[in-house]
Amino acid sequence: MDATGLFTEAYGTAPAGVWQAPGRVNLIGEHTDYNDGFVLPMALPMGVRAAVTRLAEDRVEVVSRQRPDERVTFAPSGLAPGSVPGWAAYVAGVFWALRNAGHKVGGARVAIDADLPRGAGLSSSAALECAVAVAINDLYELGLPVDGLAPLAREAENAYVGAPTGIMDQSASLRCREGRALYLDCRSLAAGQVPFDLAAAGMRLLVIDTRVKHRLADGDGGYAQRRAECERAAGILGVPALRDVEDLDAALRTLDDPVLRRRVRHVVTENHRVNATVGLMRAGAFAEVGALFNASHISLRDDFQVSAPELDVAVEAAIRGGARGARMTGGGFGGCAVALLAAERADPVREAVTSAYASRRWKTPRFWEVTPAAGARRLDPA
Ligand code: GLA
Repeated sequence: MDATGLFTEAYGTAPAGVWQAPGRVNLIGEHTDYNDGFVLPMALPMGVRAAVTRLAEDRVEVVSRQRPDERVTFAPSGLAPGSVPGWAAYVAGVFWALRNAGHKVGGARVAIDADLPRGAGLSSSAALECAVAVAINDLYELGLPVDGLAPLAREAENAYVGAPTGIMDQSASLRCREGRALYLDCRSLAAGQVPFDLAAAGMRLLVIDTRVKHRLADGDGGYAQRRAECERAAGILGVPALRDVEDLDAALRTLDDPVLRRRVRHVVTENHRVNATVGLMRAGAFAEVGALFNASHISLRDDFQVSAPELDVAVEAAIRGGARGARMTGGGFGGCAVALLAAERADPVREAVTSAYASRRWKTPRFWEVTPAAGARRLDPA
């Protein structure tokens, strides 16, 4: 990634600084964040870089290496939800959210470069928001702690872009630490850093990209519909959020609607799986986590119904190839799966997934072996 080079090409001067924010892969805890539950993401080595300089004028200029023909300019004082369309909406949304929260933020020049695939469910949009948010926080000397930036970056996505996502992705991009998974309580936003040294345990984490695009904003009602179903179920059960369901059997008896029963069963059991995973990881029992991955996938497939054939085939083939466990990760309906495996199974697992796709004449899947990376930060000057 070379955001500095792009900045210099576009604006003829060097940037004031470069900030980087990672994408994330969620280990477990899917569709729990907007139910006030628990998640366990880790930051990816891939992410987004923003080279930025303050401008005295009421003007933000944005260029992106990935969209060379689309230079975007907007006035921060004139922003209203949706006023900047397309990819730059994630940038404009951050300016809007910060100003909306009363922070004195003016103009800037921004150059973006990314090595994270877009639409693969690895939080490329949150990485873009968070790279811009940490840059503006520093350049405008707002003094906001990173924990405080996550809700603002989420606000950019929810209220400005219009994608009704939870708090996981922005929290992961901002708060993750190298070598650790982030155990986040999405109600209190309290977080624990869970050591995740896979190599020492002879294990690997493989991200499998189905190459089926997933979308969370308009056009795909699946995500918003799941949110609405969860809220409806919580209302019927008389709890603030599904996180508060303590007696699952009693809750299932109370609900007449079989669809709502499935949704509730997923959310309640998934929260337990997150907590069980953290317990096993803290005990260094990484291989045992595999069974929880498998159970999570089945729950997402059958009860929450957000999987896709390409995800199911990837998961089944990975397990056949010798993975200890595998599951879809992220919002679903496409995107990526994640598999946990012993180091010596890396090749057989890739081969099993690749040949399962080839025999169906699907696009060739992509793979990344990943370790937990650091959260958003300013990079040292080159
Ligand atoms: C998407 C959303 C997150 C979360 C996941 C599902 O990634 O952006 O907030 O809801 O889906 O766990």
